[in-house]
Amino acid sequence: MNNSDFTPRDNFSSKFGIIAAAAGSAVGLGNIWKFPYVAGQNGGGAFLVVYLLFVVAIGLPVMLSEFSIGRRAQRNALGSFKKLAPGKPWYLVGVMGLAASFLILSFYSAVAGWTLEYVFRSVTGVFSGTKEQDFEYIFVSFISGTWRPLFWQLLFMALTAWIVMAGIKKGIEKYTKVLMPLLVIMIIILCIRSTTLPGAAEGLAFLFQPDFSALSTDAVLGALGQAFFSLSLGMGTLITYGSYIGKNNNLSTTVVQVSAADTIIAIMAGVAIFPAVFAFGIDPAEGPGLVFITLPNIFQQMAFGGFFELLFFVLLAVAALTSSISLLEVVVAYFIEELHMKRITATIFAAVMITILGVFCTLSFGVMSGVEIFGMIIFDLMDFTASNLLLPLGGFFIVAFVGWYLGSELSRREISNEGQLKVRYFPVFMFLVKFVAPFAITLVFIYGLGLLRI
Ligand code: PFF
Repeated sequence: MNNSDFTPRDNFSSKFGIIAAAAGSAVGLGNIWKFPYVAGQNGGGAFLVVYLLFVVAIGLPVMLSEFSIGRRAQRNALGSFKKLAPGKPWYLVGVMGLAASFLILSFYSAVAGWTLEYVFRSVTGVFSGTKEQDFEYIFVSFISGTWRPLFWQLLFMALTAWIVMAGIKKGIEKYTKVLMPLLVIMIIILCIRSTTLPGAAEGLAFLFQPDFSALSTDAVLGALGQAFFSLSLGMGTLITYGSYIGKNNNLSTTVVQVSAADTIIAIMAGVAIFPAVFAFGIDPAEGPGLVFITLPNIFQQMAFGGFFELLFFVLLAVAALTSSISLLEVVVAYFIEELHMKRITATIFAAVMITILGVFCTLSFGVMSGVEIFGMIIFDLMDFTASNLLLPLGGFFIVAFVGWYLGSELSRREISNEGQLKVRYFPVFMFLVKFVAPFAITLVFIYGLGLLRI
């Protein structure tokens, strides 16, 4: 084991550093690329309502549980369960988390690669003068290629690995602090341009006027998966980050701040996208290409559009990077602490394996598009298995662990910093982790997977 890396444990250096790193993990492609596209496929407003409900009733308690487990155990995700429940099968939750981070990073890096291509296109100015209807064709012909998307994916994975190698403090904190606020400003500018386009009102109505008759059980499972995905929950990312949080941090404040930031940014992305989708006559159920087709269209309608476009895609790539490093860190921290590898070897080993899986995700839009498993191309299969199955299942066991195994006394001590903080909401938290969250996840699973029909 490389002792310089982990004894004493590498901690985040400031309160803002923790929030920046956790929010950096949460805010990413999930908010800006995935949220608008799954909301678009699942009816808009009604999806948003269910999503918000899940964030509050399930997301918040799962996040607080993850931070508490990690900080209590001071270990990686899998090691934390081993330490807090020695000799018990709870560590399997950590194993599931490792699997989820492999699957997620494999398709995440594919999409992050697309953002790099769009950075490149903004630099070279290839979009200028493109007609509205051509953006879809441009996007589809790019992702269905072979070498170009693979090149960007590889580059993105190399960047991720490079930062993770530098270790948690030097790498993660530094990049997040400055660039996240800039991204928010860019999204606000996009919101303003999008909502002032002719025909924008229809898009706002789509997002904010719920039509519950359009809500399927699939959509409810999708909303649950999206809440977990967007908040980086259910696979031990925030257990791992929790282990780097100092003993005097107020965990519940951090949880509320991170979740609020993540949710607000997702909604803002929706406000930036949907008015333009309707104004340009794009299909809201377009799928994974939605933002890549819509945004260049908006930039065309803006003064200094080319410059803003470049800035936006650079920031989106950075947001993706601060999330992907958190995904890779889950695996790397496990390799270092449990398998006693050096940080550098662990990072390279994990990154190479994930990239191999990632190649299949990228090719599933092109030469491998004919390969379907359970009716899904490889890319969608990875996403569905990880986001809609593994993460909620992981979340179920994480809250159950805190609620039923650690129990009220230990959890209260951890969350209240050994009694230093007042935690008046604690009984509500306990009620949510013991009953509400496990029950709601079970119910959504039963119906979402079609085990029972309504
Ligand atoms: N939350 C990230 C996003 O919204 O882009 C993706 C993600 C990161 C999911 C880390 C899960 C995770 F553990």
